Amino acid sequence: MNEKDWDQVANTFEEEIFNVPENDTKGLINDAVERFASPGATATDLGCGVGRTLPKLSGHFAKVYAVDVSSECLAVAAEQCALYDNITYVHADLSKDRNSYPATDLVLCINTLLNASVEVREPLFDRTCRSVKRGGHLVLVVPALGSALLTGYRRFQWNLREGMSPGEAQQEAELNSPGIGQGIVPIDGVPTKHFLREELEAALDARGFKVEVIEKLEYGWNTEFEAPPRWMKEPYPWDWFVTARRMR
Ligand SMILES: C[S@@+](CC[C@H](N)C(=O)[O-])C[C@H]1O[C@@H](n2cnc3c(N)ncnc32)[C@H](O)[C@@H]1O
Repeated sequence: MNEKDWDQVANTFEEEIFNVPENDTKGLINDAVERFASPGATATDLGCGVGRTLPKLSGHFAKVYAVDVSSECLAVAAEQCALYDNITYVHADLSKDRNSYPATDLVLCINTLLNASVEVREPLFDRTCRSVKRGGHLVLVVPALGSALLTGYRRFQWNLREGMSPGEAQQEAELNSPGIGQGIVPIDGVPTKHFLREELEAALDARGFKVEVIEKLEYGWNTEFEAPPRWMKEPYPWDWFVTARRMR
């Protein structure tokens, strides 16, 4: 999705865009924000959308930069967070614009590195990393490729239980995603980058970061299927939750 697409969903964001912080039942994001907060520290919400995580950041950091490519989303965020006076709103396309705000102690980046185009995503990843001060932390949430494949397998299992032959069940559950070798799998019809754990480790290492935590941020099967059957339990679908420290 590009700037115009994000502008278009600004007023229906809550209905259309999956709410990661709300579904983070273990509180991984909140815990990380609290762990990395310290008096006088600064934070950036990179790809802040309509500002779901801004109140939390605002309460724990002296100064917060809310950065997004969509001026419409930023306008909604500013309205919703009008009571928080330590937030600065920055309109920037981080796949091309130079960072127009200072590097901060914490950068929170929840499902922003999604673009299927490597020409957009790589510079966005670079600038996300450069938004972190040396010694500071990046908290990243991204879609997991293994989770997309597991969802395909669950669909296959379900098909078998519904009486399909193994061949039919597999064909019906096929992801049919031409970019899957590069981790591109559609979400709601939009080609979306999904990551491997090892890919994240290598990509962050190459950008001067030491990964401290990488774990599953799990959701219920109702996030993948309408009315999932009762037998469909663990293992659950997930996004990768990462915390990494900038070393150089
Ligand atoms: C899936 S939404 C997530 C929003 C928010 N982090 C949340 O969890 O609710 C992705 C956000 O990233 C922003 N975004 C996408 N590409 C961007 C870019 N190149 N530069 C800055 N923001 C971008 C979009 O405008 C959108 O608000």
